[in-house]
Amino acid sequence: MDTVRLTPPRTLQLDIESPGDKSIGHRSLILNAAAKGEATVTRFPRGADTLASLAIVRALGVRVTELERAADGYSSTLRVRSNGVQGLKEPDRILNARNSGTTMRLMLGLLAGAPLTAVMNGDSSLRGRPMGRVVEPLRAMGAQIWGRNDGALAPLTVHGSALNGFTYEMPVASAQLKSCLLIAGLSASGKTTVIEPAPSRDHTERMVFAMGARIRSEGNTIEIERSEMTATDVIVPGDISSAAPWLVAGLVHPDARITVRAVGINPTRTGILDVLREMGANMTISNEQEVGGEPIADITVESSDLRPVEVGGAIIPRLIDELPVLTVAAMHANGVSRFRDAAELRVKETDRIATTSGELEKMGARVEEMPDGMVIYGGERLGGTVVRSHGDHRIVMTLAVAAMAARGETVIQGADAVHVSYPAFFEQLGAGAT
Ligand code: S3P
Repeated sequence: MDTVRLTPPRTLQLDIESPGDKSIGHRSLILNAAAKGEATVTRFPRGADTLASLAIVRALGVRVTELERAADGYSSTLRVRSNGVQGLKEPDRILNARNSGTTMRLMLGLLAGAPLTAVMNGDSSLRGRPMGRVVEPLRAMGAQIWGRNDGALAPLTVHGSALNGFTYEMPVASAQLKSCLLIAGLSASGKTTVIEPAPSRDHTERMVFAMGARIRSEGNTIEIERSEMTATDVIVPGDISSAAPWLVAGLVHPDARITVRAVGINPTRTGILDVLREMGANMTISNEQEVGGEPIADITVESSDLRPVEVGGAIIPRLIDELPVLTVAAMHANGVSRFRDAAELRVKETDRIATTSGELEKMGARVEEMPDGMVIYGGERLGGTVVRSHGDHRIVMTLAVAAMAARGETVIQGADAVHVSYPAFFEQLGAGAT
């Protein structure tokens, strides 16, 4: 599936579940690995990223058995058994986080206080992403970590050691950095306090609390104390980041109605819903429930006339992974939209400011790159052409959504990158397009 060819369908009608949340999927394994006992993880998403976390916890001696696999093959029910951080086994091979920044950064927090030496590596994208942001504060807690560029780049070697709690003001609003330090704080002496510049996703806080950790949040400050945790069942909600392409496709296609069911609507993740509402989206949220400590709902969208929008400030961490696909929504709004304060996009799986604007420009979009965002001149009708993913799953889906309302055929090269988070994406798209 290296190359995918798409032409816009006459109608787009879909009623689907998005795959299990990738962030929660990683945490269901890494945090149960840090806990003692046995737990069941339901609807674990089998994307390449979460499977990288699965292979790593297994290499650390955590017993993970697959109880059941969904008929479509893309999610599993898992049984996870661990003896806690101090019971982890020294791995006899290099731990490969592949394309997954979450795996590498959260695992570093776990390994820093574990009784072992381990080497972590990843693919060429991950080897170029900034790890100094976690390595420096971990070292301040007493961690022993070595790597290229004084530990700023993988491969990284960690020699687990006794850690001390500390207070840390985070320079970026990053849930991966926050989670790394909170996980290290679970085995550090005393208290670890992290202060975020703006709220980022809080799945780690919710899950370690459910597992019995001593954790408190107030405003943007989170405190955690050394804790022994008990393994706890996790039901993984649908991923709002994977629902996002459907939401935008349903809004920009001229004859569409799409429902995505059981989507996680944790308020630290719903920035995209706020922005789409502001753009005048025809969107309804129904069937709100709470499952395993996380809120979920069904979201329905229909073809809409969209207004331009300004996106910046504290909302950015609440929609960081959705900005590429939101660019497509902005292209369909009559007027100028601006995304700012999003320099973090430049250090994702690709430089997503450059890859999003560069590829969409090939389709006729007028997008101006800014150091920390994009200016999008909406209202131009896009035309299909040859575009490429740069190996980035979110770019593949963004281009597929753009193709849904473009003239002619769009050819997406490197479309197999979609496996990182959403292996069923093109099958579902094919089923809904007529
Ligand atoms: C994630 C946090 C975000 C997000 C990533 C997943 C997580 O990254 O972009 O896809 O699971 O904690 P940052 O925390 O680096 O912003």
